[in-house]
Amino acid sequence: MADARRPLISGNWKMNHNHFEAIQAVQKLAYVLNPADHDVVDVSVHPPFTDIRSVQTVIESDQMRLILGAQHCHFEEKGAFTGEVSPTMLAKLNVALVIVGHSERREVFGETDEEARRKVAAVLSNGMTPIFCCGETQEERVAGGTDDKVSGQVRAGLAGLSPQQVAGLVIAYEPIWAIGTGLTATPEDAQAACRVLRGVVADGWGRATADSVRIQYGGSVKPVNAPDMMMQPDIDGLLVGGASLDPNEFARIVAYHRLIG
Ligand code: 13P
Repeated sequence: MADARRPLISGNWKMNHNHFEAIQAVQKLAYVLNPADHDVVDVSVHPPFTDIRSVQTVIESDQMRLILGAQHCHFEEKGAFTGEVSPTMLAKLNVALVIVGHSERREVFGETDEEARRKVAAVLSNGMTPIFCCGETQEERVAGGTDDKVSGQVRAGLAGLSPQQVAGLVIAYEPIWAIGTGLTATPEDAQAACRVLRGVVADGWGRATADSVRIQYGGSVKPVNAPDMMMQPDIDGLLVGGASLDPNEFARIVAYHRLIG
């Protein structure tokens, strides 16, 4: 991994933790993380919308080195979109990272490539960084369609962005069959897909951009498999679901760097 790409370990809480539980979780996480972890790894938490203001207050008042993230947003600034939250509202809460196009948004809520593209643009124009997700289903993998699927998602989602914008992004490769299933991609398979994604960025936005963009792996990440994933040359971070709900387990994932030196 190039030195320029600082590792990013992100906890996507999905629809878990009310705001009381969220406060407890970040306090415990800040306590169990080693200060030295923050010197080498960026760590973000992505609570549900109803928790974000509470988590922001705790992070800022206790001067924690955790990065505040969101899981989703709409692409419009405001308007008649019942139930949605705008990127402007998130930016006002000092949210820095927003997950866009997670497979659960795509598969369960029907989010399209075009919507994901508009969200990426809206997140960027509000001064935040998208974590742009892509990944293939089991059927697509078996049919040999992994590379085409994830490449197409990235080309569609990042269309129209400048090299400078893409260089600052985070892309998350999350094979759908590995999410919440306990099945993890092998480090070699994850590396192969992340390498393809870096190649897509190089083709579209240039080699220097590809060398800067950070690529995460997600899908049943646990303390036991985190170090092997992070040793792969094109994997710069991890997007963690279930294991991020337990601060001890998440902190052990963040501590991967102590095992690989
Ligand atoms: P799990 O770690 O629970 O498999 O979830 C992965 C994920 O979807 C993170 O965004």
